Amino acid sequence: MNGLLHTAQSVAGNDGRQGELVSGLFVIFLIVAAVFYLLVIAFLVWAILRRRREHRREGLLRGVLIGWTVTIALVLGGLTLASWFTDRHLAEAAEAPALEIELVGHQWWWEIRYQGARPADQVRSANELHLPAGVRAHITLRSEDVIHSLWIPNLAGKQDLIPGRETDISLLPQQIGRYRGQCAEFCGIQHANMALDVIVESPAAFERWRQAQLQIPPSPTDPAAMRGYALVTGGACASCHNIAGTPASGQVAPDLSHIASKTSLAAGTLPMSRANLAAWIADPQRHKPGNNMPIIPLTPAQLADVVAYLETLR
Ligand code: CUA
Repeated sequence: MNGLLHTAQSVAGNDGRQGELVSGLFVIFLIVAAVFYLLVIAFLVWAILRRRREHRREGLLRGVLIGWTVTIALVLGGLTLASWFTDRHLAEAAEAPALEIELVGHQWWWEIRYQGARPADQVRSANELHLPAGVRAHITLRSEDVIHSLWIPNLAGKQDLIPGRETDISLLPQQIGRYRGQCAEFCGIQHANMALDVIVESPAAFERWRQAQLQIPPSPTDPAAMRGYALVTGGACASCHNIAGTPASGQVAPDLSHIASKTSLAAGTLPMSRANLAAWIADPQRHKPGNNMPIIPLTPAQLADVVAYLETLR
């Protein structure tokens, strides 16, 4: 799409095959509708200007009516064909996916799992979806609580995540870039803060990312980070969060194994930085009221240690 409309979140984006097909169909409908609107207005003006003249001959009226009816039938037939071809192309773009992803909606974050050939190849992530450009991805969608809806407008249309029922969506990103996905179904007080960072990269960069995600984060060596490690993996954090290779194995909150490599915090609520990480942990309810993360009482020194440790999780 043109430069002005190409942003991290744009319904006019052609960055994915599915989005390109649907916005192409939209443009066809828009042009046809605009031409007919102008024609109808032109006839209306013509009729008003001529209303005091003598009545037209019957034959001319019949000719206009028949011509108009045939035109409308042809145009509607054409639009139906255009929709049909778009549908066919959408189905083709979803064929033989090379990447299987599982995405689970939670109030208010996204749990992401990349299926691998072996269980050990499974990558777990949260709130940041990496996709290789030019590769067909098939995403299975589930919800743990209420109805959510996955919407990455640059890439494709929406698909709901429904509790107790599996749905799916196919994506074929074409353009390397960073995009913003958003929950598109009201799901509670923090619905607006249920965003998803989408990173489309070259297949080689994606593979590097995938390999890095499979690594168990190295044990901290810095004294502050070591104190933070003890606080995080031995304290309340560990009962909800998982960190690979540590005693922290909670399953109800986002996986923190590589949190410092992320673009944002708390599902797009805050940009990732040391200061925001500290502010978030100090009082998660201030930044995202109603979310499930409690305030863990920490002294300022303990908070600094926790942040020092989390920053090693790259
Ligand atoms: Cu999840 Cu709105």
